[in-house]
Amino acid sequence: MSLLYFGSDNSVGASAPVMQALQEANAQGALPSYGNDPFTARAVDAVRRVFSRPAEVFFVPTGTAANALALAQLTPRWGSIYCTQEAHIAVDEANAVELQTGGARLVTLPATGGRLLPETLHKSLTEGSADRPHNARPSVLSLTQATEGGLVYSPAEVKALADIARTHRMKVHMDGARFANAIATLGCDPADVTWRAGVDVLTFGASKGGVLQAEAVVFFNPADATDFDYRRKQGGHLVSKSRYMGAQFEAWLQGDHWLELARHANAQALALADGLEKLPGARLPWKPEANEVFCFLARPVH
Ligand SMILES: Cc1ncc(COP(=O)(O)O)c(C=O)c1O
Repeated sequence: MSLLYFGSDNSVGASAPVMQALQEANAQGALPSYGNDPFTARAVDAVRRVFSRPAEVFFVPTGTAANALALAQLTPRWGSIYCTQEAHIAVDEANAVELQTGGARLVTLPATGGRLLPETLHKSLTEGSADRPHNARPSVLSLTQATEGGLVYSPAEVKALADIARTHRMKVHMDGARFANAIATLGCDPADVTWRAGVDVLTFGASKGGVLQAEAVVFFNPADATDFDYRRKQGGHLVSKSRYMGAQFEAWLQGDHWLELARHANAQALALADGLEKLPGARLPWKPEANEVFCFLARPVH
């Protein structure tokens, strides 16, 4: 029996091609470990091809690790990281960012559906006090793509926000736990909504999109990645049998499998939203743009 379970995209298994790739990686006999295997090398190349950029790429097993380690790489301990009040880094990561950064603060901003508006960011940065060395230094803007509310930033929206961050000498991080779903909706070149729009580091999520367990931290400017290998190791996220993460990513990216899966997930979300909208006593706060559906339900309907 197969249950329908609407809690999260983490509830479903991995795709057949990904599982097949894992079997094949397993059948290879002995291979170098800790990222020195051919699967990891090919997966890094595949990520670079997706972004048309010689990025520095590091695989880790969880999105929380990817976010916290990436942000720790971008901010000094006395920095502050701007994000929305719904941001996963702010509400769902048990202060992992604060731990890994060793003291940086999250500044959470209001947003509808998790999509931050440039005016909100601008207002917060210009109205806040910047008394050196007493106040934390604004150091990173973190955007989630697709947002925690299931909305998507266009390349122009990312650029508008990143431009403000740049004006304040801040770096830009993107939590792409559902980046695939965003690209499936936008239909744009992944480079256009990341480094060409001003994103410095992307947490490229694959676990929610069809792999078993793997995420990539993608540094678009190699200088930002200096000593990140130590940071990942010290944080306990350098996986010894690295071939399996590499194999998953390689299979996921091959032939646009990642986008096929994301398009399917997005279509299913829309179908669910359409059905919910027809129910008396149900109201969608906004139309889903990715694979997350939020709905107000009257208690008896629930
Ligand atoms: C927006 C977002 N970022 C990051 C994550 C990473 O989570 P995890 O550490 O569970 O892999 C999630 C998972 O729900 C998420 O929704």
